[in-house]
Amino acid sequence: MKTHICFLCSILFFLSCSNLSEQKIIYSEVDLGESLFFDTILSRDYKLSCASCHKPEFAFADNIPFSKGINAQLGNRNTPSAMNQTNRNFYFWDGRAESLEEQALMPIENPFEMDLPLSIAIKRLLKSKKYNEAFITVYGKAPSRELLANAISSFEKTLETSKSIFDKYLNEEDTILMNESAKRGLTIFNGKAKCFDCHFGVDFTGSDKFKNIGIYNGKEFNDEGRFKISANPKDLGSFKVPGLRNVAQTAPYMHNGMHKTLRQVIDYYNEPDKFISNSINRDSLLNKPLGLNEREKKDLEFFLLSLSDERFNKK
Ligand code: HEC
Ligand code: HEC
Repeated sequence: MKTHICFLCSILFFLSCSNLSEQKIIYSEVDLGESLFFDTILSRDYKLSCASCHKPEFAFADNIPFSKGINAQLGNRNTPSAMNQTNRNFYFWDGRAESLEEQALMPIENPFEMDLPLSIAIKRLLKSKKYNEAFITVYGKAPSRELLANAISSFEKTLETSKSIFDKYLNEEDTILMNESAKRGLTIFNGKAKCFDCHFGVDFTGSDKFKNIGIYNGKEFNDEGRFKISANPKDLGSFKVPGLRNVAQTAPYMHNGMHKTLRQVIDYYNEPDKFISNSINRDSLLNKPLGLNEREKKDLEFFLLSLSDERFNKK
């Protein structure tokens, strides 16, 4: 009998614990930002959160070319990963935001995304017992635009990854995980395929500038990219050089989601003219076909696969 009671007790205890964890108490700006990132309270119809498009299992990107915003409206650019954004100078494909604080509020008001005026968002948070109390606990102040941006961006800053097979190889922590094909791929990435010329640095974002790889011809490929912000004709068709960490998790690829697989991306760089004719302003690095053979393409793909953080490699 005694054991039975204990069994019952432990079930009750377990239930009350799981209930507690669902309503995690918010003590820090990161917890608050995390809660807001996953909460539909910031969308006009209470149906979308940041995580509806930036899905944790796809490295906080989406797995379709264009995510659905409010009223199932399709956006016109591919949802990038929200990970490894702390050290960027620019946000969005065209770099229209220059800090995570500035970036964080834009999707809320964007009529194609969450479509909620910030004044209403703040009113909702003031009315919500949970959030009003949480802002007071964390900041000693009631919800405001500035604090909302601070909370969300604080959470975004925790989404850094640094434990890929490639990191472990580079730091000589574990050199066996990186297979021979991936090692050959690294050499090709840095040399023959010229990837490193644009994708260098810790997160492979190069100098965090805008480049044109040929996905603009003013016709069927007509997103002007950075030009929309800078109005500089040289920027016509240029986009932010995206990072490549966890790239195996974030298909489809490019600002328009045109490539379904990494293999397609590699085929594109190998011979861009086969995919898009009459590109405007394409970078001179891509003037000539790279001339990669089948084995080199596979090696390059293996290298890109080695850039996934260990959290995504667990089966
Ligand atoms: C309806 C889908 C959708 C929702 C909801 C959404 N995003 Fe995004 N997000 C996108 C798209 C699409 C882009 C790229 C837009 C562009 O570059 O013009 C983007 C870009 C970003 C970027 C820039 C990444 C980079 O590489 O520059 C960050 C960071 C981000 N979103 C965070 C958020 C946060 C925080 C929220 C919630 C407040 C949010 N997003 C809500 C679709 C969405
Ligand atoms: C001239 C600079 C440049 C070179 C060279 C270059 N890239 Fe890129 N890369 C970019 C830019 C800019 C984008 C975004 C382009 C767009 O969406 O229009 C991009 C996008 C990508 C993406 C898609 C990322 C995503 O999240 O959608 C991958 C993968 C990629 N590059 C891998 C490579 C590989 C592999 C090589 C070598 C074969 C390479 N890049 C060479 C500048 C470059």
